[in-house]
Amino acid sequence: MTAEEEVKPLKIAIIGGGLVGAFAAVTLSRLPNVSVTAYEKSDKVREVGAAITLTEGGLVTLEQVFDLDELEKILYRTPNNGHITRRHWKTGEYLKEPHSKSPKYPKYNHAKAQRVLLLDFILKHVPEGTIKYGQEVKSVNVRQDGVAIHFANGNVTKADLVIAADGIYSKIRRQFTNDAIVYKGAVAYRNVFDDKIVEHIPGLPDDVTVWIGKGSAMFMTRLTPGKFNVAAHLRDPPEVAANLRWNKTTGDWGKKRLIEHFKDWDPLIGQIVEVMPESIAFPLERAPWLENLVVGDRIAFVGDAAHPTSGVYGAGANMGFDDVWALYRSLLETKYNLKKALFLFNETRAPFLKRVEKQIEIDQQIGAKYIGTAETDEEWKRRVEHRGLSAKWITDHSVDNEFEQVRDQNFLQLFVDE
Ligand SMILES: Cc1cc2nc3c(=O)[nH]c(=O)nc-3n(C[C@H](O)[C@H](O)[C@H](O)COP(=O)(O)OP(=O)(O)OC[C@H]3O[C@@H](n4cnc5c(N)ncnc54)[C@H](O)[C@@H]3O)c2cc1C
Ligand SMILES: *[C@@H]1O[C@H](CO)[C@@H](O)[C@H](O)[C@H]1NC(C)=O
Ligand SMILES: *[C@@H]1O[C@H](CO)[C@@H](O)[C@H](O)[C@H]1NC(C)=O
Ligand SMILES: *[C@@H]1O[C@H](CO)[C@@H](O)[C@H](O)[C@H]1NC(C)=O
Repeated sequence: MTAEEEVKPLKIAIIGGGLVGAFAAVTLSRLPNVSVTAYEKSDKVREVGAAITLTEGGLVTLEQVFDLDELEKILYRTPNNGHITRRHWKTGEYLKEPHSKSPKYPKYNHAKAQRVLLLDFILKHVPEGTIKYGQEVKSVNVRQDGVAIHFANGNVTKADLVIAADGIYSKIRRQFTNDAIVYKGAVAYRNVFDDKIVEHIPGLPDDVTVWIGKGSAMFMTRLTPGKFNVAAHLRDPPEVAANLRWNKTTGDWGKKRLIEHFKDWDPLIGQIVEVMPESIAFPLERAPWLENLVVGDRIAFVGDAAHPTSGVYGAGANMGFDDVWALYRSLLETKYNLKKALFLFNETRAPFLKRVEKQIEIDQQIGAKYIGTAETDEEWKRRVEHRGLSAKWITDHSVDNEFEQVRDQNFLQLFVDE
């Protein structure tokens, strides 16, 4: 190779070092001839003690980058192939699910992980020095020859490609769109503690269980190693929700709130809530999803910055991992032609995400017009069982298949006609 032929590395800047930004830092660092830097505004890792679901689609994607046997050490696997079971709020009886096919390989069964452990696991695989902490990005400025990234401390740096992984409150996104973040009307109370605290309680579930009642829900699962997770979604007025933060415990107030709310429910819930430590709580929020995941040939949005879910179908982070994987393949196969790469990325993800967003809307209407309007408990149960819990077409989604379809259908335009 002569000096002229030597190609300068593609400079990739990732904004945000949460689950999705960190996964991007690992994955994109594996591309040949790139220089990857991620900028995270916090001084250190910021995840909370809570649980996260890894879906079939998410596990398939993680396996492209990690050794699943190694990841397995932090996963909790239920005795029932990962099926999430729903129970009647008061009687505790199991509700029927109309569809519950298991994946072909058990390693892709839904699994649970502690969020902190999952983030630690991903971070362990990020090449040393790739993530710079305490670096808050203020804005980006797209120019002909790259993107200028402006930091809150006044520094400026340049990159060829920016990956915006800065979460639901994304500042980068709001340079280009004008949408608001809206409180969904419910607060998530979350708690992860040593399973010893509740092990003596008869009937403690080994599966991933959700008790559903009118307008609220209680989720429970075991976690690895030796932990138990309790998460309740309750309707709270906006002025109450506004005072709650993901990094602050709710103390006695939160405990009383939960005991009071669940006093008429399946007594098992009360017994657990009574002995568990203080919870954290935060309002569930949403914002519209981006229709356009790219800006020019220079910026790609991934994770909650693109599609903030607040826990819908347990799929938010998994969809973020898929975004990153679509981007990786797009860059690799177009040999860093950014125009073609970002076209492929956007066409692989945007139409799928639009279908998911539509389903969320439909499920809200099903809740309001069908399940919520049942007049008797019997009828309510029948309707809940009829709709089922499954969002399998979302949680099984193969980003690789989707990518290949988009690539093959645009093959001439991408690789043959110039
Ligand atoms: C109650 C609840 C339950 C959930 N359960 C699940 C589940 O079971 N399964 C699942 O897959 N998903 C779940 N989700 C969704 C999941 O939490 C999110 O999709 C995921 O955390 C998004 O990751 P992210 O990296 O895109 O964003 P974040 O985790 O929000 O990370 C964004 C990062 O960017 C940093 N940042 C922000 N602005 C800047 C800036 N200007 N400069 C530099 N850095 C910046 C932030 O400090 C942060 O570290 C749940 C969500 C909620 C609320
Ligand atoms: C930013 O500026 C500080 C001094 O203000 C400097 O020490 C640092 O190396 C610069 N670069 C980054 C990426 O922080
Ligand atoms: C909690 O997080 C908020 C931002 O969400 C931050 O402003 C605050 O300083 C944090 N508090 C603690 C105690 O870390
Ligand atoms: C991204 O994809 C969506 C859905 O196909 C499309 O509407 C939008 O125009 C695309 N954006 C770009 C920049 O191509």
